[in-house]
Amino acid sequence: MGGIFAAISKSSENTVPIVIEGLRRLKYRGADNSGIAVLLDGRIEIFKEAGSIEAVSAKLGLENISSRIVLGHTRFATHGRPTVENAHPHTDCERRIAVVGDGSLSNYEDLRDKLLMEGHKITSRSDFEVVAHIFESLLNKEYQSSEFLKEIYSKMEGYFSFAVLEAEKQRIIATTNGPKLFYGLSDKYVLLSSSQYALHGFADQYGELSPGELIILSKDGPTIYTSEGLAKQVQSLPLQLDPILVEKGGYKHHMLREINEVPEALLRTLSSVQKRYLNLAGRLVTGADNIYIIANGTSLHAGMIASYYFSELAGISPIVTSAAEFPLYYLENVGPGTLVIAISQSGETGDVLSSLYEAKLRGATILGITNYVGSRLARLSNLYLPIAAGPEIAVPATKTFTSTLQVLYLVALSSSRQKGKIEESEQKARLEAIKKLAQSLDERLAFIDSEATKAAEKISLCRSGYVVSRGLTYPLALEGALKLKEASYFHAEGVEAGEFKHGPFVLVEQGFATIFIMPVEKVSAEATFPSIEMARQTGATVVVIGSENNQKLLELSQDGVTTIRAVETERHLAPISLAVPLQLLAYRLGEKLNRPIDTPRHLVKAVTQ
Ligand code: AGP
Repeated sequence: MGGIFAAISKSSENTVPIVIEGLRRLKYRGADNSGIAVLLDGRIEIFKEAGSIEAVSAKLGLENISSRIVLGHTRFATHGRPTVENAHPHTDCERRIAVVGDGSLSNYEDLRDKLLMEGHKITSRSDFEVVAHIFESLLNKEYQSSEFLKEIYSKMEGYFSFAVLEAEKQRIIATTNGPKLFYGLSDKYVLLSSSQYALHGFADQYGELSPGELIILSKDGPTIYTSEGLAKQVQSLPLQLDPILVEKGGYKHHMLREINEVPEALLRTLSSVQKRYLNLAGRLVTGADNIYIIANGTSLHAGMIASYYFSELAGISPIVTSAAEFPLYYLENVGPGTLVIAISQSGETGDVLSSLYEAKLRGATILGITNYVGSRLARLSNLYLPIAAGPEIAVPATKTFTSTLQVLYLVALSSSRQKGKIEESEQKARLEAIKKLAQSLDERLAFIDSEATKAAEKISLCRSGYVVSRGLTYPLALEGALKLKEASYFHAEGVEAGEFKHGPFVLVEQGFATIFIMPVEKVSAEATFPSIEMARQTGATVVVIGSENNQKLLELSQDGVTTIRAVETERHLAPISLAVPLQLLAYRLGEKLNRPIDTPRHLVKAVTQ
């Protein structure tokens, strides 16, 4: 994930300060690196560094630079660590163009190898540097032609948008196949931004680029071409935004924005995890004598769900444990044949890191899974895979949970494939199912939110509650209870459905909330119905979360039970789909109870000690 912001002055006004402010507003999209490309005497000059735009600006003295055409970028590192080389903008071999991008290229490694063979000078590990070199060979082509776009889109795979500053023609060209890109217009400027909110104060009108379209921005304004190469009338809307929402990309809380980013994060994750590293990860899993999955909190819940993936898809049963417990109870069996799969969103959690030191001392191999490729976890791992969900600012983890589940699922599929348990066609079909889920989730999120809001109203009248499920979705019950505590200070416990009648039921009565996550398997769901009925009969507040086409869910809803209908998907992806209503429920309850949702008391985003 990254943020693109560009400005062209219609006169000779300096636009560097506008781009700096635009990038500052996009910081929530990542600030591992920042940089700008400007035109000085007709030549491209690049100013970039590690750190946020404010830090980079102070370090490089950007306030002393003046240019009427500026292309800027703020970066969340997914390919290549947050070093100055990997910072955008990137240039071609002759420095005739500068490129910035958002998203990632899933065929990056192959493109890089090919370009190096052709003699291009590639100096970074950032995937968007290859875009600059691909563009090099296309410089004299007609950009607006459908052939040009076809060529671009046939070469590059993944989920990405990018913008190119062309020195000779003094213009900026941009396209997207998914990540949002907006243009902004005023009497003075022509602008480009990853979020319409960052345009506030600089543009009066704005519009959004559709996937597959190409925009050319110059001082005369924008021209847009469809994927068929046809010029399209530029349509714009008045830019009327609530300035209070500018810093959080249009949302009241980071948590709400991050839940709304779940579908997009799934696509970003899918295109960021490179095939060759997944194959390697699969080989580590299938070749290990014994496997531990270690993590804390939400990452631990993802690891618990992954143990079902590995067992069902690859016939491998890892031991899943809290990273805080691992060095106390499990080191005896750790040796050179051991694989430790360490999951940490931040990559800086103290318990995870100290467990890794112990495991490494005993010769274990480490497969790290982290959202921060510059983290200590990434550096300590023999192999790491990026979660690539984009920065997560709210303390309650949401989109990183669903994307972590996805990475673990991909590793399990790779292991399964290597053990000959599934065909390549099945592996591909399962990847397609992820894309379909992301799309359906995107379409249905507002509806799920409205149901979660109603459920939160009811739960707000209760003093305490359970989240109940079984099997693949039992760890989700634990995760739901954790989210409720963090976002709304509501006391909740995760309960295994089979254990419900063996004790926990004693507390269930009027004023007590029982939130059931309907298990995805028919038999398991049926085995859970009696517990739902038992809870209803006590007069407790009952909420049932399940897949939209689940017959029992429909019946319960017709019978007056509060339900939240999640997106229907295939069984192994159900924990991802069902996590979203739970996250929204916790968020809406926190909002109703006026809690400090993004920064709950006593908690920090990364527990480093
Ligand atoms: C999640 O909502 C919590 N804030 C917390 O449990 C967190 O998941 C845990 O501290 C682990 O963090 P990590 O993934 O960065 O290692």
